Amino acid sequence: MLVASLIVLAVAAVIGTVAALVVTRRPASTAGPSRRVSGLFYAGTVFVVVVIGLAIPFLLMNENAADAERNTPIDVRLTEAQSAGRQLFIANCSTCHTLAASNSVGTTGPNLDKLRPQAALVENAILLGRARGNGNMPVGLLLGEDAKHVADYVAAVAGR
Ligand code: HEC
Repeated sequence: MLVASLIVLAVAAVIGTVAALVVTRRPASTAGPSRRVSGLFYAGTVFVVVVIGLAIPFLLMNENAADAERNTPIDVRLTEAQSAGRQLFIANCSTCHTLAASNSVGTTGPNLDKLRPQAALVENAILLGRARGNGNMPVGLLLGEDAKHVADYVAAVAGR
């Protein structure tokens, strides 16, 4: 993304500069040294304006794109599957569990940031439920891929 913007930027700057030089070219008879200098000055101005005018929006766009990829309050890049897991977590788990990456503060079940469970344990808890005396977690809250995505997500972000 950054490389692409820089290429677009460079091409635009070169086109602007060449256009400025062409526009300011005069017939040889009238083109004294001072005209040549003012042509270069004009070209330089166009170059600077184009670079600044494009560079700032492009840099901001890149920043925003990077934020979108991060998309959690913590500094972990999520895969697509983990992002799907994050959505599912918010809908199915956040009422009972605390997890900073989902801004969830549930207290019925254990705090997942403290527990820092492996993906396999999370998946097992989702599929089988839990009733070991510290409250109940219903069986089969999610199934199949959904359970895997959530497990993957929790393992990636818990405790971060
Ligand atoms: C209705 C409340 C509730 C919901 C919803 C809920 N849990 Fe739980 N969860 C609990 C409770 C209570 C425990 C502890 C049960 C126990 O100790 O017997 C628990 C335990 C766990 C554990 C620890 C298991 C272990 O063996 O230590 C994990 C991991 C977990 N939950 C993940 C999730 C995920 C992921 C979701 C969403 C799919 C979810 N929970 C949804 C209440 C809930």
